[in-house]
Amino acid sequence: MSDGPVFDEILDSLLSRRRLLQGGVASLALSFIEGSPFAATDAAAARGETGAALLGFQGIATSDQDVLNIPAGYRAHILYAWGDPISDGPRWDPNVTNTWEEQEQQAGMHHDAIEFFPLPKGATGSDRGLLAMNHEYVDNGLLHVGGRTPWTPEKVKKAQAAHGVSVIEVQRGGDGQWSVVRPSSFGRRITAYTPMRIAGPAAGSDLLRTQQDPSGTVALGTFNNCAGGSTPWGTYLTCEENFNGYFKNAGTIPALQRRYGIAATSEYNWEAFDGRFDAQAHPNEPNRFGWVVEIDPFDPSSTPVKRTALGRVKHEGATVALAADGRVVVYMGDDERFEYIYKFVTEGVYQPGNAAANRDLLDRGTLYVARFGADGTGEWIELTYGKNGLTEPNGFRSQADVLINTRGAGDTVGATKMDRPEWIAVNPLNREVAISLTNNSNRAAANMPPVDPANPRPANVYGHIVRWNEQGGDHAAGRFAWNIFLLAGDPRQTDANKKGNIKGDTFGSPDGLRYDSRGVLWIQTDVSTASLYAGDYANIGNNQMLAADPATGEVKRFLTGPRNCEVTGVTLTPDGRTMFVNIQHPGEPGSGENNPSSPAALSSWPDGPGIGRPRSATVVITKDDGGVIGA
Ligand code: FEO
Ligand code: CA
Ligand code: CA
Repeated sequence: MSDGPVFDEILDSLLSRRRLLQGGVASLALSFIEGSPFAATDAAAARGETGAALLGFQGIATSDQDVLNIPAGYRAHILYAWGDPISDGPRWDPNVTNTWEEQEQQAGMHHDAIEFFPLPKGATGSDRGLLAMNHEYVDNGLLHVGGRTPWTPEKVKKAQAAHGVSVIEVQRGGDGQWSVVRPSSFGRRITAYTPMRIAGPAAGSDLLRTQQDPSGTVALGTFNNCAGGSTPWGTYLTCEENFNGYFKNAGTIPALQRRYGIAATSEYNWEAFDGRFDAQAHPNEPNRFGWVVEIDPFDPSSTPVKRTALGRVKHEGATVALAADGRVVVYMGDDERFEYIYKFVTEGVYQPGNAAANRDLLDRGTLYVARFGADGTGEWIELTYGKNGLTEPNGFRSQADVLINTRGAGDTVGATKMDRPEWIAVNPLNREVAISLTNNSNRAAANMPPVDPANPRPANVYGHIVRWNEQGGDHAAGRFAWNIFLLAGDPRQTDANKKGNIKGDTFGSPDGLRYDSRGVLWIQTDVSTASLYAGDYANIGNNQMLAADPATGEVKRFLTGPRNCEVTGVTLTPDGRTMFVNIQHPGEPGSGENNPSSPAALSSWPDGPGIGRPRSATVVITKDDGGVIGA
């Protein structure tokens, strides 16, 4: 590892530049971009000794076609689509007559975060491994014969079986082509009803106890798993995001449920046949969701563990880095307008090769929330019971209370309200951290928080990317120096606020982020299907993936997805020569679900018009010459 930028130098640089600048928030935001204090360090680190351009491919045009496009010299094929068997189980039926028991043995819907784990465990090879990935939600119009009509217990169970996580074994054949290994003893589906252990300081709390589980230590399932992460000890972290939409409370909604968005109606109507989703009758059941779940992909019999020490929010991701002393740091966003950015620092240190020591590392440590200062520095505020106002008069009786109502704790300590924190990525070359703030058009509205230096646009319809360096280059530090890497936008807009400042290819609504081992920042977009193709997004086409050079700010479009999809989830093999990308919800309508009588109305990707409906899928990308992706 190279040394991180020296905090005091960054601070000096920021402050001296600030003294030269006058003006409002917009010009302040620009000042952070134009003379990035990070540039010199990044340039040296990212270019290494070769001096070659970091982004070595020809950027591609936008697309509104129902196909996946990648640059010349690259090839892509479909590896694992919704309904494909995890091992040698039942095949997907295009007429969707598969039962819930069959769906349990097949890929779920709505692929999201994805991580590659080389096989055998602990190896660093790039020809064989496990892929763990999330299945965020479902489209009942595509999933069932007749869609939601009639609504039955079997359809609820099948929808629950199509949520959660897949673990599959994959390998590269002699012809260079990747495939799913079938049969494989590793193939596993975790669903919305798989039993999991609740661990950490909130386990057993009275707020986690239910009729079904009076101990408050065993939850059924995980759902709305969005972004994720992986640990150095070979586990997968899956993050529960918009769990509130699965619950209904037709009565008086308690404050804690309200703070997390539980409403009088649910989006999925599971409560019709699975009583625990009635949050009026079972008020603590929602408290058992909104966690980061740790899964051992190498042991199909292992019980997933909800790590309560990491807090309860609408978790977007859990990006792991190591502090200077070996403690484990997890960066996490809470994806909603005006929510916060968190990090967790373990008490113990990571011990390579010592499985017993690492197993429950994520159960003990300190949670922090970010406050961004106007001077280009920021601080991590500790969310520990008894400190910073997290006391009984403010509604916190214990650390369990702080963790179950993490949002309330962030409110209490005065954290910075962000423009929808999505994925966080750590640059392995210089430890810089980047986060997507996907969009937020509400700052201009009455009674809403105003703009601030880290969220500088009142109608932020295109989103932005913020980055920071921890003091001393140590991920466990209490302070950081930050700037805005870019403001997304469309230079063809007349409104100065919407032009953005991307150096290169246009995009909006950044979501998925990953730095690869060369320091390329891969950016995936999630323009909502309601916004695609019109208005502010008329020129931007299908959702896409781009690559950015952190030193120069150059952005090139690498992939465009099929129509009405989201591009989310990207991982690479250790040699950087194979990239796995997830395409989520091709053909999703602007509102609601697909009409089961015309399921291919908006997309038939990837199978084509003959098959009858679109499917989320994992795509494998390699280079024709076998080279490193993006180089
Ligand atoms: Fe599921 Fe915040 O994206
Ligand atoms: Ca996302
Ligand atoms: Ca998103």
